[in-house]
Amino acid sequence: MSETLKAVILYDSMSKSGSTETAINAIGMKLAEEGVYVEKARCKANADYSFVRDFDIVLLGAPVYYFVVASQLLGALVSGNLRKNLKRKKLALFLICGSPEAMAAVLYLPQLKINLVGNRILAEKIFSPAMLSGEDAVENFVFDILEEYENDKKSKVKIQWTEEALEMLQGLPPFMHGGIKGLVEDYAETHGYSTITAELMDIARSDQGK
Ligand SMILES: Cc1cc2nc3c(=O)[nH]c(=O)nc-3n(C[C@H](O)[C@H](O)[C@H](O)COP(=O)(O)O)c2cc1C
Repeated sequence: MSETLKAVILYDSMSKSGSTETAINAIGMKLAEEGVYVEKARCKANADYSFVRDFDIVLLGAPVYYFVVASQLLGALVSGNLRKNLKRKKLALFLICGSPEAMAAVLYLPQLKINLVGNRILAEKIFSPAMLSGEDAVENFVFDILEEYENDKKSKVKIQWTEEALEMLQGLPPFMHGGIKGLVEDYAETHGYSTITAELMDIARSDQGK
């Protein structure tokens, strides 16, 4: 059986039960209907975001106030530790705002994307508050996210580890396993290796230090 996909929705809003809440609840429900485990968390710029590493997909969503994406989400990316913790994460972005979509795509979405260079963005969507009363916009957004996630998984060559390389990994302190595994797999992928050997781990390590 395949593992349950885990998604977290990080959001910000000045309102308690405004359009943003409506959007995240609808998106969360739809993801859950599709079998995804979902959590949501309201952003604080200076919070600790190390928990996002446990999720397969991170959704970032916020409204726009006075031409700027809501400040706690933006602050978490610009001055908090969110950006660092989103390294190698697959993302989906959404904004809720009153401006026409084309304008928002040029003026507002880049405020988020400029902080996410290097991330895989599975889908992005600009919702107007009115769009949220119908189901289609949210449903299509969720389907796009999941379709792209599955496409990525299919196109990715499965990287093998030799016994010896696995032993080297196990010899490291447990808190380093996830990070080092990801780094070495990234290195192998970038350099066209499909098997991680002990030698490759040494090469990746010395390259990393350069
Ligand atoms: C004070 C205020 C300022 C706003 N400024 C903008 C803006 O500059 N551009 C825009 O497209 N929408 C703007 N809007 C519309 C909001 O982005 C939209 O209503 C959004 O749904 C608000 O989210 P909320 O209900 O979670 O607070 C503004 C709304 C408010 C209340």
